[in-house]
Amino acid sequence: MISSELTRVRMHEKSRSALVDDTERSVFHFSPLVGWLNDPNGLSYFGGKHHMFYQYHPYSTYWGPMHWGHAVSNDLIKWDYLPCAMAPDEDYDRNGCFSGTALSLEDGSHVLMYTSCSDSKYDPTGKGRWLQTQSIALLTADGEYIKYSGNPVITENDLPSGGDPFEFRDPYLWRAKDGSYRVLVANGIAENISGVTGTASEQKGTKLLLYRSDNGLDWIFDKVLFEDNCRVGIMWECPNFFCLGDKYILMASPMDMIREEQDAHGSIRFPQGNNVCYITGSFDEEAEEFTPDAGDSGAFDYDPVDYGLDFYAPQVMKTGDGRQVMIGWMQNPKTADIASNGRRRSGIFGQMTVPRELSLEAGKLIQHPVRELEKYRKDKKTWKSMGLLPEWAQIPDISGRVLDIEMCFHTQPSCRGAGIRFAADDRYFTQLWYDPKRSVLSIDRSRSGQDRIIPAKRSIHVSERNGELKLRILLDRWSAEVFINGGEQVMSVTFYTDAKAERILFRSDGEAAMDITCCSIMK
Ligand code: FRU
Repeated sequence: MISSELTRVRMHEKSRSALVDDTERSVFHFSPLVGWLNDPNGLSYFGGKHHMFYQYHPYSTYWGPMHWGHAVSNDLIKWDYLPCAMAPDEDYDRNGCFSGTALSLEDGSHVLMYTSCSDSKYDPTGKGRWLQTQSIALLTADGEYIKYSGNPVITENDLPSGGDPFEFRDPYLWRAKDGSYRVLVANGIAENISGVTGTASEQKGTKLLLYRSDNGLDWIFDKVLFEDNCRVGIMWECPNFFCLGDKYILMASPMDMIREEQDAHGSIRFPQGNNVCYITGSFDEEAEEFTPDAGDSGAFDYDPVDYGLDFYAPQVMKTGDGRQVMIGWMQNPKTADIASNGRRRSGIFGQMTVPRELSLEAGKLIQHPVRELEKYRKDKKTWKSMGLLPEWAQIPDISGRVLDIEMCFHTQPSCRGAGIRFAADDRYFTQLWYDPKRSVLSIDRSRSGQDRIIPAKRSIHVSERNGELKLRILLDRWSAEVFINGGEQVMSVTFYTDAKAERILFRSDGEAAMDITCCSIMK
C-alpha cells in the first residue's frame, strides 16, 4: 500500500511532466521529471540496470520537503523516469527524505537508507532545525520501496557524546568483506548537546560515524572513522568512501568553507562556500582504520574534486562491470535558489553532471565522461593546426549548444593567451581563457544572461605542458563540463543564456594554433 502523499505526487508528476517542453531539458544530462532536483541518491547497479534516485521537490522549482525521484538506465546516459519512489509521509520524515544510498542485500533485495527529517519542535536551540535520523525503505515484489516498520533505524540515541542530532545525515552504505554491512553518516560536532534536550553551542566540526549491521536493518555504533575540527568547512555533507586501485578515497561536501589564499599562480583551490573535496589514504579493514595520506604539514591532504562554479554532493557507485562512477549535482548550492529566474518557467530546475569514470594517477583523481557517451557522438568535424586570430572568430560549421568538443591549444612562447567562447551571440558568451605564461585557465560566465549576483569567474592553475592545453568541453544547452588535460581537473558550470546564442568563437593574443574535433550529441 502506498501512502496518499505518494499517490498525490505521482498524479502531479503525470499531469505536470506532460507540460515540460523537451527543448527545456538538457539533452544528455539528467534533469528532474518535474520541479526541483538536487543531490543524486541511491546510485546503484541492481536488477541489470543502473538506478539513480535524486533529491526532489516535485511541486515547485525550488527546494522544499524532499522526495526521492527515481530513474533507471542501461548505459548511464539515457535514463527512463520511474514514478517518485518516496515521499515525506511518515512522522519521522515529515520534513523530508534527505540524501542517502542504496545497497543490494544477500537475499537479492534492494535497500535504500536515507536521512529522515522530523519535526522542528524538537530543536532546543529554537533555530527550527529538524531532528535527523536514518531510515530504510525496502523494495517489494510489486516494485515499490516501502518504508521499514522499524524506522528510524539509527537515531539520536546512537550518537556518540557531543554529536549534534540536528546535523546527522547522508548515510553511505557498503558491504564489508565478511558479508556484514557498514554505513558512514556525517555528524556535526556540537558540544553540550546531549540527546535532543540539551543546549547547543556553535558547530565544532564534523565526525564521520561508522555503524555496522549483520542484517542491514539493526545497526550499532561502531566508531568514528574520520574527524575534522573546522579545518575544512563547518559541516561535511554527503560522505563517500570507496576504493580506487589500492587506495581508499574519502570524498565529502564541506559546507561554508573560508576562501583559501591565492597560490603563486593567482588561483584559489577552494573558493568560499560549499565545496567538494577528496582525501586519499589506506584502509585497514580488520581494524577499520582509515589513514589519510599526509600533506606537507603532516595533516591530511585534501584536494578539490571539481574546479568550476557548479558542483556539489556527488555520489560514487560501482557499475555492473566494476567501474567507479561519480555523478554530481551540477549547481552551486549556495546560489541555487537565486540563479536563473527565467529558466524556472520551464517547470524544471537542476541537472546532474555527466557520469564520470574515476581513476587515480600519482595519487590524483582523474575523471572521464563515461565511455557510453561515445556512441551518442554524431557529425564529427576535425581541424588540425588551425591558426588562431587576434579577434574572436568562428570556424565554419562549429556552432550549437549540444556538443562534445575536444581541442588542444598550442601556444608559442610569445603568446599571452588563447580562448574559446561558447553560447555566444552579439550580447552573450561564456568564456574559457588560457594564460600559458602563468599556466592558468579561467572560466567567466559574467556575460551569460544571469541577472542576479552569483559567482561568475574562477581561475585555476593547470599543469604546465610547454604551452599546450587539452580540453574536452561537454556543452549541453545550459551547462558545460570542461575536462582538462585528460581529466586531471574538471570545471562544471551552468549558465542561463538564451538558447539562440549558439556561436562558438576562438581567439589568441599572440601566436597560437589549435587542433579541434567537434561532435554533436544526439540521444
Ligand atoms: C546536500 C544536502 C544534504 C541533504 C540534502 C537535502 O546538498 O544538504 O546534506 O541530505 O541536501 O536536500
